[in-house]
Amino acid sequence: MRTDNHAKRILLGISGGIAAYKAPLVVRKLRNLGADVVPVLTQNATRFVTETALQAVADNRPRTDLWDAEAEAAMGHIELARWADAVVIAPATANVIARLAHGIADDLLTTLYLATTAPVFVAPAMNVRMWEHVATQRNLERLRDDGVTVLGPADGEQACGEFGPGRMIEPDEIAEKVTAAISTRVLDGTRVLITAGPTREFLDPVRFISNRSSGRQGFALAEAARDAGAEVTLVAGPVHLSTPTGIERIDVVSAQEMKDAVTQRAPDADIFVSVAAVADYRPHTVHDQKLKKSQQPSTDFRVALKENEDIVGSIAGVEPRPFVVGFAAETENPLEHAREKRRRKCMDAIVVNDVSDAAIGFDSSDNAVTLIHAGGEMGLPKMRKGAIARRLVDEIATLYASAGRGS
Ligand code: PMT
Repeated sequence: MRTDNHAKRILLGISGGIAAYKAPLVVRKLRNLGADVVPVLTQNATRFVTETALQAVADNRPRTDLWDAEAEAAMGHIELARWADAVVIAPATANVIARLAHGIADDLLTTLYLATTAPVFVAPAMNVRMWEHVATQRNLERLRDDGVTVLGPADGEQACGEFGPGRMIEPDEIAEKVTAAISTRVLDGTRVLITAGPTREFLDPVRFISNRSSGRQGFALAEAARDAGAEVTLVAGPVHLSTPTGIERIDVVSAQEMKDAVTQRAPDADIFVSVAAVADYRPHTVHDQKLKKSQQPSTDFRVALKENEDIVGSIAGVEPRPFVVGFAAETENPLEHAREKRRRKCMDAIVVNDVSDAAIGFDSSDNAVTLIHAGGEMGLPKMRKGAIARRLVDEIATLYASAGRGS
């Protein structure tokens, strides 16, 4: 089991229905949102999805058997039930729902359900007739009375060819709902403005200067801030990411457009987090028509550049202003450069990542950062950008409150 003791710890129960083939995706989505996941399969689930696949995505050994002496010696089932911050059963078949509703603990998953005090979520998946059956509805009512949250099901075409309610809701919806429900609402009542992604500085209608930012780190922060209770506005450069639910998104292209969008919204923000990789320079002249090769000298073609205004500096340098957190993408002496950048741009805190490491930073799933503020520094080792985001949101909320800005 990994040791990131701030990640949310989730037991993912998987029961034996066709939707079990989506369980590795549920694991991946939960991990992307910063969770540590231990899959627990019923015997029937092992007919639909392999332990090998789940082990690979969860990076934790799946559990299947109450009588597995080796697994029990490593962590007994009662200990496992205590370890969990949440238990999610996806898919939950009619059979497993019935056993949970009646307190029947005849395998590892149902035993864990009785032994845990953590919140429990079930995502039903079954044939429409089984879903509509009075016995299933009675069992679900009982589970709801017992405090279990029922996620879905979705309506539509089923694996058996019938139509109607009974499909498991999609893995990203399960992950988002569960993570939001178990997040600590450390930013309740705050308004957070975040920039993400690159900017594009056009030379002519087809050519531009930009960088490798994918927007993933900024979008992950926006989701984490939303789950922590904040009202989030996300100013996004050109990225291929869908808008997270519940977040206001403003799309921009150039640094100038990003500056205009931020300047307009900063007076309403309590916290501004500048994750965007804003281009420092733009071409001096933007040509209306595509530049022809024949019009340029055959060698040594030069483009005159002019400096873009510093967005985060322009917000941090003028009172009244929000609590300002910048990011620093460095390739050498990251801490030294980031400390200097924080002071120079008057930021309350800065998050530095070493972008010379191809496994983190630009356009990767993982990051490793150090948060630097006036009172100290905190390193976060390599983990998913969602996990980094959640840890940063907790720290930013603490700093914001101790700066006397929060409630
Ligand atoms: O998008 P991903 O693929 O997930 O990658 C994430 C990331 C590597 C882009 C991110 O973690 C990151 O490091 N973002 C900051 C990138 C950057 O531009 O760093 P910088 O050191 O050049 O700028 C310092 C700060 O000034 C940043 O907060 C930046 O947003 C801000 N800035 C820079 C220039 C400018 N004209 N205006 C600004 O506001």
